[in-house]
Formats: sequence, structure tokens, C-alpha cells
Amino acid sequence: MHEPLPEGGMIRKLWISETDVYRDHLLRLDKESRRRRFSGAVADEYIVRHAGTANEVGVVIHGFFVDGVLRGAAELRSHGSVFGREGEAAFSIEQPWQSHGVGTVLLERTLLSARNRGIKLLSMHCLADNQRMQQLARKFEADLKFDFGSVVGEVDPPRSTPLSLMREAVADAHGVATAILDVQSRLIDPA
Ligand SMILES: CC(C)(COP(=O)(O)OP(=O)(O)OC[C@H]1O[C@@H](n2cnc3c(N)ncnc32)[C@H](O)[C@@H]1OP(=O)(O)O)[C@@H](O)C(=O)NCCC(=O)NCCS
Repeated sequence: MHEPLPEGGMIRKLWISETDVYRDHLLRLDKESRRRRFSGAVADEYIVRHAGTANEVGVVIHGFFVDGVLRGAAELRSHGSVFGREGEAAFSIEQPWQSHGVGTVLLERTLLSARNRGIKLLSMHCLADNQRMQQLARKFEADLKFDFGSVVGEVDPPRSTPLSLMREAVADAHGVATAILDVQSRLIDPA
């Protein structure tokens, strides 16, 4: 199911203590990527406030790390009741790591998490000129409906199953184990 990631890269969920890590990543985005991520030009203060809410209930962030530094993220926010859950997803990948398949893996993980949280409708606010995001969404056409004429895409993931829950749990466990090994290897060889 996974496409290969750029060398040295790994994906895991962010921990609730990592809002600063998320903030620093968002602040590192170049001007154009920042505009695309937030659907318009936003000030640093806006990003700092936004990142500060990353540990709230209903927020799941998958991060793409290279050598322990967060270089890409997929943010999923769910709201509504258990019966009519909706969600919103947003993606940010730092420029040198764009177009290397990272967005594809992050969207795949986000769709799985959305499905397992009973989210029926997932919005992705995407500027109409964002070809890459639209191409990325198209790759998941079987799982999502995307209105390319508007700025909002809608995903309609199927229900969770024991298998889909297990897939997320396995990915989480793998993420934790890899993070521990990553820290250990950098402690042994800090170069
Ligand atoms: C949009 C974004 C999330 C896409 O992630 P990515 O890792 O760059 O995309 P991928 O490498 O997985 O490529 C996805 C698809 O986009 C298309 N694509 C890749 N590079 C492209 C480019 N330079 N121009 C147009 N389409 C491109 C391809 O069809 C690709 O699929 P394929 O390689 O299987 O053919 C990422 O570029 C990004 O964070 N951009 C800045 C912020 C942003 O636009 N966020 C989205 C709004 S929420």
C-alpha cells in the first residue's frame, strides 16, 4: 500500500507534546507553500496560534520526519456528532520534499484515520490553481469525490472495519518503534 518515501524519511503521528515541532515546520514553509496551505497569505502569529491548537481533541496529525526534523504534515480535524461526523484535512510539505510521493502517503494515512473515526465527509480547502493537490486527490478517486470546479474537495471514506482499525494501530506502533530507533541511532552517531 505504501509508496517509497525519500531516503531517511519516516511517517508517524505527532505526539501531543509536539506543537512546537509542528509550529516550526509550518513557519519554515516557503511563501507559496504557506499560501497554498492556508488558502491565502497569513502572518507568522496566525501560524503560531494555529499550531498551538494541534493537541486539541479531534486533531490527528501525521508527520513526515527526516533525520528527526518534521518536513511534512497532514492535519485532520474532526467535528460533529458520532452519527454525523465531518472532518477537514490540510497538507504541508516543505519545498525540497515536494513531488517525492510524501503527500501521497500522508493522504493515504489520513483517509485511513478519517475512516476509523467515522468521518463521512472530509473537506480539503484547496486553491483552484493548486494542480499538485488536485492531482494528488485524483489518485484516490476510488475513495473520494472531488469537485475540481470549486475550492473544496469532499471525501467519503467507507466505514471502519476491524482490519482498517488494525492497519492504523500497526502503523502507529511502527511509527513509535521507528522514532525510538531513530533517536537512538542519532545519539550513537550525532553527525
Ligand atoms: C500539495 C502537496 C501536499 C502534494 O504533496 P507532494 O508530496 O508534493 O505530492 P506527491 O509527490 O505525492 O505527488 C502527488 C501527485 O501530484 C502530481 N504532481 C507531483 N508533482 C507535481 C508538479 N510539480 N506539478 C503538478 N503535479 C504534480 C503527480 O500526479 C503526483 O502523483 P504521481 O507522482 O503518482 O504521478 C505538497 O506539494 C504541498 O504541501 N504543497 C504546499 C502546500 C499545499 O499546497 N497544500 C495543499 C492544500 S491543503
